[in-house]
Order: sequence, then structure tokens, then C-alpha cells
Amino acid sequence: MNKFVCVLTYAFLAAAAGVPADAADSLPVWAYPVNPPGLKPAPDDGSLKQVPNSAAAYTMTQIRDLFMPPDWHPDNHPPMPDVVGRGNKPGQFACGFCHLPNGLGRPENSSLAGLPASYIAQQVAEFKSGVRKSSEPASLPINLMVAVAKLVSEEDAKIAAAYFASLKPVPWIRVVETDTVPKTKVGGWMLIEDGSGATEAIGQRIIEMPENLERTELRDSASGFIAYVPPGSIRRGEALATEGAGKTTPCAICHGAGLKGLGPVPALAGRSPSYLVRQLYDIQHGTRNGPWSELMKPVVAGLSAEDLVAIAAYTASLAP
Ligand code: HEC
Ligand code: HEC
Repeated sequence: MNKFVCVLTYAFLAAAAGVPADAADSLPVWAYPVNPPGLKPAPDDGSLKQVPNSAAAYTMTQIRDLFMPPDWHPDNHPPMPDVVGRGNKPGQFACGFCHLPNGLGRPENSSLAGLPASYIAQQVAEFKSGVRKSSEPASLPINLMVAVAKLVSEEDAKIAAAYFASLKPVPWIRVVETDTVPKTKVGGWMLIEDGSGATEAIGQRIIEMPENLERTELRDSASGFIAYVPPGSIRRGEALATEGAGKTTPCAICHGAGLKGLGPVPALAGRSPSYLVRQLYDIQHGTRNGPWSELMKPVVAGLSAEDLVAIAAYTASLAP
């Protein structure tokens, strides 16, 4: 059979089965961390907190204010429009609380800095309409994103999209290949060290955690993340992403040179690998199902769990 017919037959079978045959079969739980039940943040002792290179000082109550998040480094971004810097009570939280004022985001949400404005607005509309959901229904951050998308006006979504699109993505995640990683637990919807000092085998996982937990807990937008990835995964991911390696389509055709984005198609370079794996898995399993996700379905159809890890290790290692 010629290759084209093979591809068509495969695509047909995959579509008939719902989820493609070679798909990553079980939810990669490390990419969708869920807080243990009853986990509560430490109470506010009323003291003013500070972070390096900032003149600001906030109490923990201020730092956790979803309607007016801390802005530790006002010099590293333009003035935030209200929709980004202040929410709209009772339920439309400020975009900048989760995505950070500089749009670099955290592993439990997504970076937005420098993404195409039209793409950002389109995704908000898709969270709102319900075609974009998460494969982990217990993820509070994602459920809150959906809630915000339902409340924000189209006009404000456009303003927020223009703001985040104007920001420059900068290096934010340090990728390290390693066999062993610190033992982790879930805290604040992300993986953090479990405090025992013990290590364990990485296996086929990406362990993305704060460079400095204390600063991340203070929502310091200048303290980034470290992503531990399996040995050899960056090279393997590079082969898949650049040549397809018989399993997929080279990403740069649509995501642009250096995977820095092309027209309305989002960048992948230097972005959170846990976020990226969630998207690849969601598209593969039909929980992210916008009109443009169709273009991605054949790309992810034949990718295994190990392939998703390798691709995300590679894209995260690229300069944004
Ligand atoms: C309570 C936290 C929270 C708030 C507030 C929030 N988001 Fe999000 N947002 C998320 C999470 C979590 C995701 C990632 C979803 C996933 O992993 O599938 C996300 C994803 C996105 C994406 C998808 C990015 C991509 O690359 O596809 C866009 C766009 C977005 N948010 C825009 C906004 C805008 C605009 C606002 C303000 C109007 C906002 N968000 C407010 C949590 C939030
Ligand atoms: C035929 C064009 C095309 C190719 C080839 C392609 N993509 Fe995409 N990709 C898209 C489009 C369009 C979207 C936006 C999907 C949507 O709106 O739901 C997207 C979205 C994504 C997303 C979600 C990004 C985000 O911000 O949420 C990831 C991750 C992704 N692609 C990874 C890849 C990888 C990895 C490859 C190569 C192995 C690849 N893509 C190849 C067109 C493509």
C-alpha cells in the first residue's frame, strides 16, 4: 500500500475508534497535579513580605487576592489594563493573578506572553463555549479559567489578549536531563519537593517545580521554574518535532521557525512542558476540541506517552 493510503486508512481507523490506537493511554498525572483534599495555605501572620529586586511589600492576604494580585516588578511590563490587574467581583478573577503580570505563567496554568492576540481571544471563547476543557475535571485552576471565560466580556477579553500579545517571552524554565529527581508532592496545584530530601527515579515523567518555592509562593514574577526531564529525551523530542520520525508531522510547518509561532499559530518554544503535555493529551483525547484543534489531531494521533514527554522536553529547552 502506498504511504498516502496508509495514512488515510490510519486516520480513518483512528477517527472511528475515537481515541487513536497508539495514543498515550493513561492520564499523565504528573502533568495534571491535583491538591490533596483539605490542603490549606498557611494562615497570614500579618507580616509584610518582600522579594529580591523589588521595592514592594505585601501581606499574604494581599498576595492571595485574586482580584488584585501583587505586582512585584511593575518595571518589567507595561501598565496592566483592569481586566489583567484587577478582576471583576464576584467571580471574574484578574488574568494577572494566574498568568502573572508579565504573562510568563506557572506550570498549573499557561504562559501567554507573546502569543498571537487572535489566538488568545479565540481560546478564551473556546473555554467559554465548552469545546476546550481539561482531561482532569478536578483541576481547580482550569475550572476557574473556564469560569473567568464565561464572565469576561468579549471586549475585555480582547483588551487582555492585546496586552499579553504585546509582552516579550523570556527564558523562564530551566530544563535538566536527569535519572533521579527530588521526591515530590502536590502543593498549590503544582509539584513541589516533599521535604524529605529523598530522591526517586524520574521514569517517563517531567518534574516541573519552582526554582525557589518561597518566591513562587509569594507569586514573584521574576522567579522561574526547573523542569527535570528523562536522559536523552531532548534529542528524541527534537527528532520527532523536526523530522516527524515516521510518527508525526514536523511542527515548524505550522508553529514557525524555532517553534516561535507563525501568524495565528501559537509558539511552543520555552513554554511549560507540563502545560504542553496537557494540551497534547487533551487534543489526543478530544477534551480540547476547538475548530483549529482539527489541524493538531493527525499530529498527535500516533504519539505515545513517552513521545509526549520527549516533545515537551525538547520544546521547553528551546529559547522562547
Ligand atoms: C484562576 C486562574 C486563572 C485566571 C484568573 C485566568 N486564567 Fe487563563 N488559564 C488558566 C489555566 C489553569 C489555564 C491552562 C488550562 C490547561 O492547562 O489546559 C489557562 C489557559 C489560558 C489560555 C490558553 C493559552 C494557550 O496557549 O492556549 C488563555 C488564552 C488564557 N488562559 C487567557 C486568560 C485571560 C485572558 C484571562 C483573564 C480574562 C485569564 N486567562 C484568567 C487559569 C487562569
Ligand atoms: C498543520 C499545522 C500544525 C502542525 C503540523 C502542528 N501544529 Fe500544533 N497547533 C496547530 C494549531 C492550528 C494549533 C491551535 C489549536 C487550537 O486552537 O485548538 C496548535 C496547537 C498546538 C499546541 C497547543 C498550544 C497552546 O498554546 O495551547 C501544542 C502543544 C502543539 N500544537 C504542539 C505541536 C507539536 C509538538 C507539533 C509537531 C509534532 C505540532 N504542534 C504540529 C497547528 C499545527
